[in-house]
Amino acid sequence: MKIMHVDASAKRERSNSRALSRYFLERLREEGGQFEVDYLDVTIDTPPHVTEDFAIATYTAAPDRTPAMKATLAGSDALCQRLLAADAFVFAMPMYNWSMPSAFKAFIDSVTRTGLTYVNADDGRVVGQLSRQKVLFITSRGADLRPGSPYAGMDALTPSLKAAFGFLGVADPTFVDAQPLQFADPEARTEALRRARAELDAVASGWASSDSSKETQDLLSGVTA
Ligand SMILES: Cc1cc2nc3c(=O)[nH]c(=O)nc-3n(C[C@H](O)[C@H](O)[C@H](O)COP(=O)(O)O)c2cc1C
Repeated sequence: MKIMHVDASAKRERSNSRALSRYFLERLREEGGQFEVDYLDVTIDTPPHVTEDFAIATYTAAPDRTPAMKATLAGSDALCQRLLAADAFVFAMPMYNWSMPSAFKAFIDSVTRTGLTYVNADDGRVVGQLSRQKVLFITSRGADLRPGSPYAGMDALTPSLKAAFGFLGVADPTFVDAQPLQFADPEARTEALRRARAELDAVASGWASSDSSKETQDLLSGVTA
């Protein structure tokens, strides 16, 4: 299994979302998951913001693109190929101003591509091309946005991630939201991290067992073929 692992926190050593994404991959390995990682730090390799050239080139049919248009899209093309080659995604990010970090939004803008990560079917449907991949979002939040909290209605992060990746075919992503990690007393922060790690343990165990049952199926179909 190839996992594309993307981190998006502006913080490095002090980042909780980065620590939790590393924790998840360690737990997955401990559970017997067999995988290689394609790592991307979008705060270092930040895809460019959408430009006018990009906006025109991306909606020009592939056979009609000029060499300049092709050059404009080359980085985005390559990033899309990395996504299409992955079997699973681990996307880790903090909540910034109730939504996603702008570097991760730039990533989404770069990988949402007609003819690559989604295709327009003859009957008019849009068919997302990332429907076979498992997807885990790990988000870290300073406040507690769980139901019942005063901030519960402020979550613009989860719906936007669901919409953007749903369009690309991701029907049922898993979310592990670590909260509250900043605007709370130390006990509540510790408890939030404990809860997030427990949820990640469960996801790691589920991914490892689905991975090994797939390997068994592949083996059996190879034997019977
Ligand atoms: C610029 C900025 C904006 C933030 N906005 C929010 C916010 O809207 N809601 C929230 O709950 N926390 C917010 N936080 C807090 C972070 O989400 C929180 O500290 C999180 O744990 C950071 O994750 P990290 O440790 O991986 O960087 C913000 C932090 C920063 C630096």
